[in-house]
Amino acid sequence: MTDIAKGLEGVLFTESKLTFINGTEGILTHLGIPIQEWAEKSTFEELSFALLHARLPSAAELARFDAQLRANREAPAKLLAEIASFPRGVHPMQALRTAVSYLGLFDAQAEEVSEEVRYAISLRMIAQFSTIIAAIARARDGYAVVAPRLDLTHAANFLYMLTGKEPTTEQARLFDIALVLHADHGMNASTFTAIATASTLSDLYSCVVSAIGALKGPLHGGANEAVMDMLDEVGTPDKAAEYISGKLDRKEKIMGVGHRVYKYFDPRSRVLRDYAEHVANKQGKSTYYQILETIEKTVVDRIGSKGIYPNVDFYSGTVYSDLGIKRELFTPIFALARISGWCASVIEYTRDNRLLRPDAVYSGATDQHYVELKDRQ
Ligand code: ACO
Repeated sequence: MTDIAKGLEGVLFTESKLTFINGTEGILTHLGIPIQEWAEKSTFEELSFALLHARLPSAAELARFDAQLRANREAPAKLLAEIASFPRGVHPMQALRTAVSYLGLFDAQAEEVSEEVRYAISLRMIAQFSTIIAAIARARDGYAVVAPRLDLTHAANFLYMLTGKEPTTEQARLFDIALVLHADHGMNASTFTAIATASTLSDLYSCVVSAIGALKGPLHGGANEAVMDMLDEVGTPDKAAEYISGKLDRKEKIMGVGHRVYKYFDPRSRVLRDYAEHVANKQGKSTYYQILETIEKTVVDRIGSKGIYPNVDFYSGTVYSDLGIKRELFTPIFALARISGWCASVIEYTRDNRLLRPDAVYSGATDQHYVELKDRQ
């Protein structure tokens, strides 16, 4: 019998210096630094530099990197016009997938795969993702695109382009922390997909389009939206325990809990829970927050022993909702952060590239012969 690593669980296919996860103890580090410290002390801009270079920047390097990101915020006007003409009602992740593919058409360097060019494209894409996602959101609601402002941080500028209003310092900081928490997470499904595409020596836009497709699914990035749908289905906090128990009795999955690697609390979910709690205490506990509290308790009591605990998507939706962000934008916002991890991982992997090509155990028929159509039943 040949062992099959179903879902590629536990399969090691490369080395990486970017992200370390200890799933049993709930530890996540980038460059050896705990995620809690990144969230508390750093910014999305700095973490993006750190991932792309596999080291912390000096103050001058960070200032230069930040200036480069700001200078690249504008998206091609033709692309923005195209976004405005996308069919009404398409999911923003469909729109983002198409928009990034289209963006590549405007980049004269798109097909180049040298590390230097991949780095330059990464920088442009990190900067432009925010303009593109905000444009997609506004076009969906029938509003005109808001041009980027160069005097705002990456996080503040995104919220500004989304709403047309400058966010408060606290809102911008909270959103920045959410971006930091989502920027990279080792060999998750979308990063692996980006790497698989890169391993064929395809271009970076194709890698990112592949990754967006993988992130879109409800078992990966789409879970944050599904969590909010679940909260609406529960309705009120008093119904939460019974709702969850019923689902578990029927062997149905609870969205926002469970993880391939974490068999304990995902540390990102703890940071987000603390912020969700902070907002709840300031504004009075929202119904959503109270339902989440009960679901967390019920899940941990009932299936915590199986290693199933809240993941990053469990609380992210309420944090985004508190920022006034619509549900269908949660996964694009995940992409807004993860673009840094995708690009950094592609650059790191292709430095010592080998085509990714796993195999399957053949379990089909043998010793057959072609049967003419007319002779088939
Ligand atoms: N609710 C209830 N039971 C669960 C859940 C869940 N969310 N997740 C896993 N389990 C149970 C399974 O039923 C299974 O039980 P069994 O052994 O009795 O059959 C066992 O735990 C193992 O589950 P798998 O699905 O095989 O675990 P896998 O590692 O393949 O799945 C995944 C990980 C996809 C994240 C899963 O936990 C899940 O579907 N969670 C809900 C979706 C979600 O929140 N996704 C976001 C993940 S984080 C991210 O991508 C950002």
